[in-house]
Amino acid sequence: MKIRKAVFPVAGLGTRFLPATKAMAKEMLPVVDKPIIQYAVEEAFAAGIEYIIFVTGRGKKALEDHFDRSFELEVALKNKKKEELLRQVKDLVPKTGTIIYTRQNEPLGLGHAIWCARDIVGDEPFAVLLADDLIQSETPVLSQMVDKFDRLRASIVAVMEVADDQTDKYGILDADAIEEDVVRIKNMIEKPEPEKAPSNLAIIGRYILTPKIFDILGRIEAGAGNEIQLTDAMKQLLTNQPIFGYKFQGNRFDCGDKAGFQMANMAFAMERPEMKEKLTEFIKTMHLNIDK
Ligand code: UTP
Repeated sequence: MKIRKAVFPVAGLGTRFLPATKAMAKEMLPVVDKPIIQYAVEEAFAAGIEYIIFVTGRGKKALEDHFDRSFELEVALKNKKKEELLRQVKDLVPKTGTIIYTRQNEPLGLGHAIWCARDIVGDEPFAVLLADDLIQSETPVLSQMVDKFDRLRASIVAVMEVADDQTDKYGILDADAIEEDVVRIKNMIEKPEPEKAPSNLAIIGRYILTPKIFDILGRIEAGAGNEIQLTDAMKQLLTNQPIFGYKFQGNRFDCGDKAGFQMANMAFAMERPEMKEKLTEFIKTMHLNIDK
């Protein structure tokens, strides 16, 4: 039971980034010089994923073009002897036939977007990656999760501890610790007020799910925000299958949020030797100005 397929829901409206996302999916916004979706796709391939399934909506063209060859550009880069850039633009294109696109006709929620991939995934466990959650880590988070899946043989969600006053932004777990970095989920609540939160363990956008989730997603009613919620479907899945939470190693940035997106840009840029010094100087002057 190898995890071969990864679903990337990229059909949300991205309202928090308007007007930037008016004609373009927010997953195409760049962190330093790569669209955030490319980080997630690279993470999936690093974890042994063989098929990338995009559930798209608006902004589909830019996304499809990004993961396709661009002969004009390749010729231009070759003529200009920009070998390194040429290698990068060629290497990011997955092997023909390994990317599959389907369309969510209406943004009816994350759960609905995943359900749109049901026939492409078929009867096997699969991964879901929300590119908004960009994670800086030594070992890609999906690889860490696939290792856990090989042992636990059940659905796993990535989790992290959040500040007590942030629980109303996440799906929050009620869970028992079974290992240092693994919990067994008893219940989950979507965006509880801090006083109603059973813990501060929040679900982050990496999942390994069993195909049973599709049956549930196909019949549940719309929940919070009038959207088909993945959390609601996972709650039902819990009644007949275990789901584990995995406390991943890494530093997560919420690129769906403007401040989080800027922080991701800063953190990833600081990893680049060619930018680090300039940025450090800039941050120092900014800091001086803030103190004034
Ligand atoms: P978000 O909750 O961040 O919503 O979706 P959003 O529409 O993208 O952004 P805002 O809140 O309006 O700014 C989480 C993930 O689920 C996908 C999004 O593309 C994102 O990757 N999604 C959400 C869908 O694919 N379809 C939907 O109907 C809703």
